[in-house]
Amino acid sequence: MRQKLVVGNWKLHGGLLENQGLLNRLKQELHDLLGVDAAVCLPYVYLFQAQALLQDSSIAWGAQNVSQYTEGAFTSCISAKMVAEFGCSYTIIGHSERRALKLESNQVATKRMLNALHAGLTPIFCVGETLDERDGDMAELIVRNQMLNVVYGLDDEAFALAKKFNMVIAYEPVWAIGTGEHASPDQAQRMHAFIRMMIAERDRDFADQIRIVYGGSMTPQNAHSLLSMPDIDGGLLGRAALVAEDFIEICKIASRCYQQKKVFQEPMAAVPVFEA
Ligand code: PGA
Repeated sequence: MRQKLVVGNWKLHGGLLENQGLLNRLKQELHDLLGVDAAVCLPYVYLFQAQALLQDSSIAWGAQNVSQYTEGAFTSCISAKMVAEFGCSYTIIGHSERRALKLESNQVATKRMLNALHAGLTPIFCVGETLDERDGDMAELIVRNQMLNVVYGLDDEAFALAKKFNMVIAYEPVWAIGTGEHASPDQAQRMHAFIRMMIAERDRDFADQIRIVYGGSMTPQNAHSLLSMPDIDGGLLGRAALVAEDFIEICKIASRCYQQKKVFQEPMAAVPVFEA
């Protein structure tokens, strides 16, 4: 059964002192949580600090992006291999805030993802539609387009790496990011099931095993209804990741949802039949 995954996307937030307080709190509270993997994706400059503070904990850490290039005269770029040296397990790829800056087309995002996979990182590949696209009944079409690179754009070798390093998909409707307005559990579930179906077109087993997390104004108040949906395997949190209590609470909710699902999935003990 798929473990839940809760990832904090710190975006352009942090400072040495605040990070220390926040990471230490997470470390104290988030251990031995059944059925949940927790991770934080921080700005590059704090990866060293994350590594120092979290290496003996159950919390993983990651970057918010990696370069499409591997080496060379590319001022300010940071490669996947470089972040891997700081013990990163994850990197976010193709976040809508990157796509909106027009820096990242689907093709560029795919290149970044390939570099992440070759460096042994788990990419968290983000997809999601804008409000206009949803209102125009194009949400599935947009997400399908973004997913096509992942489903069919990876050659067999890269797809094998995606499986090996447990690639994650994050469904993040752009209209829900940082707005306080989240997708309804039904809306999100429908899109997650759609994404899983697309992956099944290429590989049924992987479709069953891949984690598809939801991002967009997830809070402790709405987390249970979202995370108890059958195809929602966790959350990518922005604002809630910066408040220790909220992040911790969402991880605990994820653990409860995992356990509830497990109870339902476990085969019932055979009922003995007595003959009259
Ligand atoms: P939010 O951000 O939780 O603040 O909406 C999510 C994200 O951008 O990944």
